[in-house]
Amino acid sequence: MKPFIVAIDGPAASGKGTLARRVAIHYGMPHLDTGLTYRAVAKALLDKGLPLDDEPIAADEALHLDLRTMDKNILSAHAIGEAASKVAVMPAVRRALVEAQRNFARALPASVLDGRDIGTVVFPDAQAKLYVFASPEVRAKRRYDEIIGKGGAADYAEILADLKKRDERDTTRTDSPLKPANDAHLIDTSEMSIEAAFLAAKKLIDHAL
Ligand code: C5P
Repeated sequence: MKPFIVAIDGPAASGKGTLARRVAIHYGMPHLDTGLTYRAVAKALLDKGLPLDDEPIAADEALHLDLRTMDKNILSAHAIGEAASKVAVMPAVRRALVEAQRNFARALPASVLDGRDIGTVVFPDAQAKLYVFASPEVRAKRRYDEIIGKGGAADYAEILADLKKRDERDTTRTDSPLKPANDAHLIDTSEMSIEAAFLAAKKLIDHAL
């Protein structure tokens, strides 16, 4: 039977990860944060002192990635997200990681995938597609609060500038740029609680199930 896919896309700090986890728990579906796959490749290159922009070298890392060894805590560092968006522009890297992401979902009856290109490229025929977004200012404030909440130091203006730079790189790349799929349900989380976003997502998913 065709696997049931919930595709959740959107920019950094839009709330897509939180929503994806909430949806996955509610429906008991396995969840893949595809951003981690790009982050894992970037981290492997950084650890080995290899360049981030050499396509054959980066693609080789991507081909050998084992999804089971990805550790969200280790990969969540800000610098790794920045490096990930650099390796993510290379088509050979994307091809290898998209293949791994598809294999993950095809082995399951149902799953939730979140990222930038799930509804447009990875699973264009996903049964439920959501595109989660919020203004850059709201997203930067969330990141800021998150870091401060964990006892860290943060500079709002710097976070905002970095987010805009990453948005620019993700939306303007030639291969699989970040954009809503034509048939995606848009959720603006700028002024919305997680619960309200979840209820909107649930309505769509229940209808598709
Ligand atoms: O979502 P996260 O911030 O972990 O993603 C890190 C980077 O990986 C993004 O900025 C983007 O460049 C890339 N990415 C992607 N396609 C995905 C998921 C992430 O290009 N499906």
